[in-house]
Amino acid sequence: MTQSTGLGAQAGTAQIGVTGLAVMGRNLARNLARHGYTVAVHNRSVARTRSLVAQAGDEGVFVPCESLAQFVASLERPRKVVVMVKAGAPTDAVIDELTPLLEEGDIVVDAGNAHYPDTVRREAALRELGLRFVGAGVSGGEEGALHGPSIMPGGTCEAYEVLGPILEDIAAKVDGVPCCAYVGPDGAGHFVKMVHNGIEYADMQLIGEAYDLLRQGLGASAGEIGEVFARWNTGDLESFLIEITADVLSHVDAETGAAFVDVVADQAEQKGTGRWTVHSGLDLGVPITAIAEATFARALSGATAGRQAARAALPAHAPAWQVADRDAFVEDVRQALYASKVVAYSQGFDQIAAASAEHGWGIDRGAMARIWRGGCIIRARFLDRITQAYERDTDLPLLLADPYFTDAVASGLAAWRRVVAAAATHGVPTPAFSSALAYYDAVRAPRLPAALIQAQRDYFGAHTYHRTDKDGAYHTDWSGDRTESNA
Ligand code: 6PG
Repeated sequence: MTQSTGLGAQAGTAQIGVTGLAVMGRNLARNLARHGYTVAVHNRSVARTRSLVAQAGDEGVFVPCESLAQFVASLERPRKVVVMVKAGAPTDAVIDELTPLLEEGDIVVDAGNAHYPDTVRREAALRELGLRFVGAGVSGGEEGALHGPSIMPGGTCEAYEVLGPILEDIAAKVDGVPCCAYVGPDGAGHFVKMVHNGIEYADMQLIGEAYDLLRQGLGASAGEIGEVFARWNTGDLESFLIEITADVLSHVDAETGAAFVDVVADQAEQKGTGRWTVHSGLDLGVPITAIAEATFARALSGATAGRQAARAALPAHAPAWQVADRDAFVEDVRQALYASKVVAYSQGFDQIAAASAEHGWGIDRGAMARIWRGGCIIRARFLDRITQAYERDTDLPLLLADPYFTDAVASGLAAWRRVVAAAATHGVPTPAFSSALAYYDAVRAPRLPAALIQAQRDYFGAHTYHRTDKDGAYHTDWSGDRTESNA
């Protein structure tokens, strides 16, 4: 293994560079070096650069640089610079410092969790300077960054021709296929990463609700429920999040000897990607109800003053919960969890399709499901099924309408209804389970109460309505003789 070169940069020797050596940046640099790339590394505080070389210098060839100028000078042309700093202003600051040092054709990769409109802006700004900007979603946390993340690069096809082989090298592999593929122009990559995070929120909320139902319905211990999740992880629900849930629920707090989950404060935080997803769903008019409920559930959990007042004032008026057949109830919850999960993913992929159409990104949803099979936080066996669904029909209007998923959800429908009804009866909050079921029933309904809403809107606001029996828009003279006129 080639030793690192120590401090000081050799001009034009590094094939790629990483600036920003916090955990994600550090591990991404190590991953690149382990794959044989000569990696220039830079951090605002030199100490971090030095500690990386000291601790991981034997993993490959690093070119440690004490300044951005040295860092840029150490890179071969066209330069490939990976920026791994906090999203927002810190990323803009690094880009502003970098661009005067770069030359036409050089590539800047933002591998942070940037908000996709920022990526669209940055890509256009750097294109004006003859530079290429790639917003790349990177999923999998620090372990993924080191051992193989799922990577969702945007930007131009030309940039991907240069950068793609390197990113595919370091990405996770499933059946030998890299969990990295070109997503689409400008902000497409960060948009898909954002939706990944929205689905992640829904997945985590659904798992939390399943856990709560088993805890309250069975009076089971965290450890016993951890064993249930471990069993579920051998079937259709097999996924990273189910796997870690089994692990977390089985973990005992060293300090108290209590179940670890029972000593964790029940206020869920969020860095913001889930909120962005919900904002986008509202703007696009895509009912990502499970993702929205999961995001709001985090906000509700953090509303401590309101929760305290509610606990004191609001009665449950719910009967004690005595589950007669425990095994049957566990199986019902498993089926309800899978059905709700399918709805959440269906909504997320609909959102990707809507954004792709709006922005002209041409995103291949099958390819996105394929690169989410490994490396990322929502990696799961059933993403193979989603990949296959979009291979059967790339323009699938609704993932739920794919024969496999239609059957999978239909077979769990009775259980799903029983679980949501039992939760409501016994006062256990299941916003994601319930909204996913409500979405399922609404999207398949032959007639919706939206007809009454249209009539109401025309009544008080003369907002007009369409009819089922003829084309055109109409208004009724509600305050007069109630004749109907063409609008
Ligand atoms: C990933 C994760 C990651 C996420 C953090 C914090 O794909 O590796 O989604 O990007 O941002 O885990 O997420 P929240 O604070 O929004 O829960």
